[in-house]
Amino acid sequence: MSKESPTLETIVSLAKRRGFIYPSSEIYGGFPGVYDFGPYGAELASNIRRAWWKAMVQEEVNIVGLDSSIFTNPKVWEASGHVSGFSDPLVECRACNTRSRADHLLEAIDVVADEKISLEEINALFDAHRKQIVCPNCGKKDFTEVRRFNLLVQSNLGNFANDWTKEPTYLRGETCQGIYINFKNVVDTVRVKIPFGIAQIGKAFRNEIAPRQYIFRKREFEQMEMQMFTRPEEAMTIYEVWRQKRWKFYLDLGFKEENLKWHEHENLVFYAKAAWDIEYRFPFGFKELEGIHARGDYDLTQHQTHSGVDLSYPDEASGTRFVPHIVETSVGVDRTFLAVLTEFYDEDELGGETRTVLRLPVALAPIKAAVFPLLKNKPELVAKAEEVFAVLKKEFMCEFDDNGNIGKRYRRQDEIGTPFCVTIDFDTLGETPELKDTVTLRHRDTGEQERLSISEVVERIRQASIY
Ligand code: GAP
Repeated sequence: MSKESPTLETIVSLAKRRGFIYPSSEIYGGFPGVYDFGPYGAELASNIRRAWWKAMVQEEVNIVGLDSSIFTNPKVWEASGHVSGFSDPLVECRACNTRSRADHLLEAIDVVADEKISLEEINALFDAHRKQIVCPNCGKKDFTEVRRFNLLVQSNLGNFANDWTKEPTYLRGETCQGIYINFKNVVDTVRVKIPFGIAQIGKAFRNEIAPRQYIFRKREFEQMEMQMFTRPEEAMTIYEVWRQKRWKFYLDLGFKEENLKWHEHENLVFYAKAAWDIEYRFPFGFKELEGIHARGDYDLTQHQTHSGVDLSYPDEASGTRFVPHIVETSVGVDRTFLAVLTEFYDEDELGGETRTVLRLPVALAPIKAAVFPLLKNKPELVAKAEEVFAVLKKEFMCEFDDNGNIGKRYRRQDEIGTPFCVTIDFDTLGETPELKDTVTLRHRDTGEQERLSISEVVERIRQASIY
């Protein structure tokens, strides 16, 4: 594997070793499809959210944010079509009872079964290839028929009956439904005019049949979704604008263009006007990172019909009303996280030693600067370093480290992607009078060091952190 393409094992090992990602409930043997972010992972995930929010809300003039609840009236999921149709094709191995996604097993032998295929069609396709399809767990070729399995996660929230499964509530399967059901609230309370967007970041839950490829496909995950409400006639122009903007988002973050690819959905759901994915070159190949969809007026029409509330919008010019069309951009925090670790992982040689380095953009780095006293056993150095740390931590996520030799401290910070290390030495204390109150600033990517005043260091980090 070239150093631009770390293996999944390499990423998993670094993420565990350095406190980015832990398997959920590890002391109880784990819990499939669920992971926890460790201290550096929580910071990285939060910086990913912040970068997205900045690009999608802060820097846009016509997009507002929202934070809707995970639980809704269950009617929302009936109106959206999730209760009846949000399912994946499931097969079970008769030998070991492992459940797999039929479309994934077909994909493994290079047979495409797109997401809109009917149950009859996928059964016919599966039957035609049964002899080649092996169980990923036991290697046998003995499967049941394909059946549909609904992905909505059910709950008894607010239902105290023993047979609550007859009237379940649902944990949201996607965050955008919370946006659609608040469309009227936003129009009525905030000064927005079509075309405008509502953006939201939050958890979503899906009973994925076979969660796999680490944090790529989880059962509890997080989405960053933006829904743009448009006039019918301008929807496709706005759609093209958003395709370009979302592509640029990754380039602006520092992704190499050759690691991104467009994928057009050919077999669209009946209401969709267009659907493209941005795929990323994950360690297991190009796979969907983000979806950009032109959804027509389906979503608001469905909620209007099921709720009985008018969700149309006035056209001032003609005096008529119309149901807005929707352009959606949707990406997972977790998939972006995995793409970021993959994209910026590197191994190189520095000072005659091989090192692992995460070349994260400064804006995404969990720790912006690490502060080191040159020696741990010199109280005057430690005191001065604590003083510098107190200044820096007011503005940035910083770490103080006085453990081990400086080289080891640098390597540790390189592995978690810290772009700057600040060392306090005897010159800082005034041993060389003209260098008093200056520190060394060491750059992660090159290992180069420069001598700067503390206020210059603050300004350097501030400027570098702007994304
Ligand atoms: N509202 C549209 C929607 O939810 P989707 O293609 O099902 O569309 C959008 O999901 C994005 O959410 C995906 O491109 C992916 O980044 C993320 N995503 C979906 N399912 C996921 C899962 N099980 N685990 C992690 N991320 C997931």
